[in-house]
Formats: sequence, structure tokens, C-alpha cells
Amino acid sequence: LHVVVLMGGWSSERDVSLTSGRGVAGALRERGWSNVTELDMDRDVATRLTELKPDVVFNALHGTPGEDGTVQGMMDLMGLKYTHSGLETSVIAIDKELTKMVLVPGGIRMPAGKIVESESVHREDPMARPYVLKPVNEGSSVGVAIVTTEGNLGTPIGRDVPGPWHEFDHLLAEPFIKGRELTVAVLGDQALAVTELQPKAGFYDYAAKYTDGLTVHICPAEVPEDIAQAMLDMAAKAHKLLGCKGASRSDFRWDDEQGEAGLYLLEVNTQPGMTPLSLVPEQARHRGISYGELVEQLIAEALQ
Ligand code: DAL
Ligand code: MG
Repeated sequence: LHVVVLMGGWSSERDVSLTSGRGVAGALRERGWSNVTELDMDRDVATRLTELKPDVVFNALHGTPGEDGTVQGMMDLMGLKYTHSGLETSVIAIDKELTKMVLVPGGIRMPAGKIVESESVHREDPMARPYVLKPVNEGSSVGVAIVTTEGNLGTPIGRDVPGPWHEFDHLLAEPFIKGRELTVAVLGDQALAVTELQPKAGFYDYAAKYTDGLTVHICPAEVPEDIAQAMLDMAAKAHKLLGCKGASRSDFRWDDEQGEAGLYLLEVNTQPGMTPLSLVPEQARHRGISYGELVEQLIAEALQ
């Protein structure tokens, strides 16, 4: 079986994707797969895939256009089999506001957001502090700011502040949910575990996600049984409502003073990271599934 591991590309998460993709390709080779090609995506990707004729593509891309349906649609047209979610799911899940339009009517609690012009946030607060500002379609906390009464964490705001927001016409503003940061991976149809992320400083931003030692991962999270179960159920339901395939990862905030009513799903990631510090592999391991087995399971599902 010839596997092409599609990675890299030109999103802001290019480096994360290269790490994911190299991990996947390395694990396959270690497990005896001899026909594995690593493909760093550029504009010639369709030509390259036509030449390579893979039996299956392992999609290790993150961000646009590998996570937003564009690459999925191209592979559909080419008749290629690929891991993770398809076109329609990807289009919806990459957009944090569109995601709410599917999940909230489905009974999943998410923070009430508001789309604002990026430029306006430098002049006025879109809602009462504390709130979070984020691009609707980025990953790995790129461009995220938490604005509190004391100032802000992450991407700076203020008049004439340069930063990643130059690229975004609009941002999503959401009330900041105080409390704890948790995540649940879903593999196939099964929610794997709950992990709590405790960054040692600030919030779970890009550096805290990808620098070893900056965040404590507690898996399984030390939360009451009913809260853990509610999160597992919400993640499995979100995966199903969005029509996710392969693996997804739902990120949560929990205001632990409010019990179950304080549980909010923030977003569903359809191309979750596969790096050494990533959470889907970590939860799989907790369930007795090695990294290599996880990769093989995703390929097996893609080939079905
Ligand atoms: N966007 C990163 C890769 C994640 O969700 O893990
Ligand atoms: Mg994300």
C-alpha cells in the first residue's frame, strides 16, 4: 500500500503540520510500511498526487487550505482516499462561528460569540471584559487574545498595534469562561478521555502548546465523574453532528463553580495535531493505543 503523508503547506501552522507529518511517516516506517512518501504541499499538489498515485493519503495538514475543505474537495475530485474529515465537515468545523450554527441547536453549550471588525477592537471593547478575541479559522491559538480588565494576554490590542490581525478582516469575540481548560479526543465514534491542560504561565497559547515543559497535561483529568462523562458525551455528539471522520478533538472550558452548567465546548478540531506534545496521541496512549496503532487505525478507516 502506498501512503502519501500530506503535510506542511503555507498556513500559519505549517511547522506544526511538518512535525505531525514526520511523526506519522516515521511511525509507519517503524511498523514496517515500506511505501511511504512525505509530501510538503505546495501549489503543485494536485500534479504531485497524480504522479504519486497513492492508495491513501494521510492528511497531516493543519489550518487552511488543508483543514478547511479545499484540499478535501480536491482529493474528492481526484478520487483519492484520505484520512480524517471530508469536505462538508471541514468547511463547517474550521469556522468557529459556523460550528456553533450546527452544534448549539443540537444541544451543545458553546459561548455566545459576536463577529466584529478587526480594526474596531483597537478602539472599543466588543463586549464586557473579560473576553476572548480570535480569528474564526485559525488553529493552535494563532492570533488569540484574552482581554481582561487589567490588560490583555496573547496578541496585543491597542491603537496601531501590528500583529497577526492585519490578515483578518473579522474576529470572533466571546466571553472568557473562567476556570479550567480541558479537551476530549474522539477516535472512530469513541470519546477517548478527558485531559486537563494547566499552562505554567499565561494561557494555553502557541508556545504553551508546543514547548515541552510549559504546560502540565493531566490525563485523565481530575474532575468529578459526571463532569467527565458530560464532556465525553458532548465531544462524541459534536463529532457525530458535524459528521467528523477518523479523529477529532473538542476543546472545552469549564467554570467549575457552575457545575455541569459551566461546561462550554469552544471548538472541534478536525485535523488535530499529531506532534509529540499533541493530545489525541496522548489520549490514545492512555487507552492502550500506541501512536503507530493510532496512525494505522486512521488509515484503515480512510480505506473503508
Ligand atoms: N490546530 C492544532 C494542530 C490542533 O488542533 O491540534
Ligand atoms: Mg483549534
